[in-house]
Amino acid sequence: MTRVETGIASIGLHLPPLAMPVEELAALRGVDPDKYLIGLGCSEISLCPPEFGIVDLASEAARRALSRWDGELEDIGMIAVGTETAVDMSRPLSAFVAEELGLVGHIRSYEVKHACYGGTLALRQACEWRMSGAARDKAALVVAADIALYEQGDPGEPTQGAGAVAFVVDRPEIATVGLDSHTWSEPAFDFYRPVGESYPRVDGKLSLECYKKAAVECFNALAEGRNPAEVMERFSAICFHVPFPKMVRKAFHLVGEVAGWSAEKVQQLYSEKVEPSMLWNRLSGNSYTASLWIAVANALQGLKPGEQVAAFSYGSGFGSEILSLIAGPRAKDADWAQDIERDIARRGRVDASAYNLLRSSVRTAAA
Ligand code: HMG
Repeated sequence: MTRVETGIASIGLHLPPLAMPVEELAALRGVDPDKYLIGLGCSEISLCPPEFGIVDLASEAARRALSRWDGELEDIGMIAVGTETAVDMSRPLSAFVAEELGLVGHIRSYEVKHACYGGTLALRQACEWRMSGAARDKAALVVAADIALYEQGDPGEPTQGAGAVAFVVDRPEIATVGLDSHTWSEPAFDFYRPVGESYPRVDGKLSLECYKKAAVECFNALAEGRNPAEVMERFSAICFHVPFPKMVRKAFHLVGEVAGWSAEKVQQLYSEKVEPSMLWNRLSGNSYTASLWIAVANALQGLKPGEQVAAFSYGSGFGSEILSLIAGPRAKDADWAQDIERDIARRGRVDASAYNLLRSSVRTAAA
């Protein structure tokens, strides 16, 4: 088997057709809007109308990624979809997406589940499959897609959102995914959704601690034996899974504190390398598996070949991994940015009363 050059050859993104500013939710819940805007760092919640679901979201991101790739459907040998918005306990979401795309043949098709970490696992598996030679030079289609909804009135409600990212894993024209990643997992019930239940059960405070522990362990492993601040400096961007932007700020500051950086150094690294990558996440809300990869897609825009991006993935339960990506010759084109720009420009605005209506129709559908 021959080892082939591997990485991200094209990117497609999709946000659903509706959004609500968090101030509307604050008014509905009788909460000071600054709690959501400043306390959590949230801006907008992406929402799906009743007739629009996870298959539409994932399939459109996949179509967009395929449209920017110079291969044919016959050149795809794997479709892997990371999600926690599964529509069936047996039939994988990949089968629903493949049906939409007309993807049939000698194809490994499956769904990957590990809360928000599922998309990262799907991407890693696709890269490893190609690099092992088992792919026989076929490409993989990887999708990370989720709709994040909490029970009405749940403290997680302002962090809701939705979004999808698709990658064609082939030659690394946009980025190489480095093989030298670092993992940390530790079983916990911080956030989980038992079979048959519509909404997650969340131990909010525990989830923050688990996320922070995972970040410290992964960043420590990444920097082992080297000066941690110098390791950070070599990245053009440091991306995180973004349940809400303040979580990322808290975790990065803890990583810096543990590494012994001065408060000024932490703030400088955060402002230059972490915060800018969350621009699209502020407009999507938490999109679970897609969240980190929306940040990475934002950070890759315009990079020169050889520039590096760090990507910290976290999924409740919990599992985490830090990866590095190296920009390829087509990162500078950033043609995927237009997906977000168009979706944002076209999407409808939902106010508090429309949100109430929307939630009652979602509840009916889920029942
Ligand atoms: P809460 O308990 O309502 O919020 O929910 P709080 O009372 O802790 O307040 C939040 C922050 O707002 C605090 O700041 C307050 O001081 C501040 P902090 O002390 O933390 O810096 N605040 C204000 N600021 C300005 N003006 C005001 C004001 N009032 C308060 N007037 C919680 C917070 C995160 C627990 C909740 O939103 C939640 O349960 N979210 C869902 C769980 C979550 O996102 N966890 C994150 C880590 S786990 C993860 O990332 C995995 C996940 O994506 C799922 C997966 O893997 O599939 C969730």
